[in-house]
Amino acid sequence: MTSEPAPPAPAVPTRPIAILGGTGPAGTGLALRWARAQESIIIGSRDPQRARDVAAVIRGKVGFGALVSGMENSAACAAADILMLTVPFDGQAALLKQLKPAITEGSILIDATVPLAASVGGRASRTLGVWQGSAAQQAAELVPKGVSVVAAFHNISAELLNEDSPLDCDVIVCSDDPDAAQLTRELAAKIPGVRAIDGGKLENARTVEQITALLIGLNIRHKGHAGIRITGLPPEAYR
Ligand SMILES: NC(=O)c1ccc[n+]([C@@H]2O[C@H](COP(=O)([O-])OP(=O)(O)OC[C@H]3O[C@@H](n4cnc5c(N)ncnc54)[C@H](OP(=O)(O)O)[C@@H]3O)[C@@H](O)[C@H]2O)c1
Repeated sequence: MTSEPAPPAPAVPTRPIAILGGTGPAGTGLALRWARAQESIIIGSRDPQRARDVAAVIRGKVGFGALVSGMENSAACAAADILMLTVPFDGQAALLKQLKPAITEGSILIDATVPLAASVGGRASRTLGVWQGSAAQQAAELVPKGVSVVAAFHNISAELLNEDSPLDCDVIVCSDDPDAAQLTRELAAKIPGVRAIDGGKLENARTVEQITALLIGLNIRHKGHAGIRITGLPPEAYR
């Protein structure tokens, strides 16, 4: 007698990751990849219905057991202590000020914001000067005390994240909090084809953010989806 194969076991709930501004391509791409890795995801949006709609699309792509819900951004902050920020630079500061009361002490905010000139009507291949040094350092000034900021995922193509194939790129992770940086490297390494590298202190985000403008220029010139690979480091440098 042949028996039917057992359905896959439902995913075990994990510490949720709230993706603030998770309805755009960067947020949906990260959500898709992490949901496939059985992470529990909350899509955040200014509009709770849009968040729920996007969450439903991602659940549909991931399939059985996907742990993806949608909420307004401040509700998402209150429901998670790992926060992934994927909004355009021109909205970053105002959103963080608005969300400050909802962000709980001890949270980790992972910031992927690139201060592209495009966010204020300029070219996508140019960046804006940020008084604090980088968008990530600006975020660090705006979060409540006791919240660690990590800069990561600036140089990864959202378009490729939203597809099914493994990526072919490295993610440089910068933070002044080594534990928050390690957690972020672990999350990055859950994306097939991605290696995560410790990029040192948060101030190094300034350089990492600038690389994105170069990659966008290369994409325009060569019609591709450029990423970066760092070579020549010992194997233990790649996670
Ligand atoms: N696209 C990429 O390949 C890529 C790669 C690496 C890093 N990044 C960076 O990641 C961030 C997000 O990129 P993206 O392409 O996903 O951006 P996006 O589509 O322009 O925006 C993402 C989401 O942010 C929310 N948002 C837009 N303007 C806002 C504002 N003024 N205040 C609050 N929320 C706002 C919107 O969600 P709701 O309307 O639902 O609230 C939107 O869907 C950017 O800083 C970008 O530079 C992008």
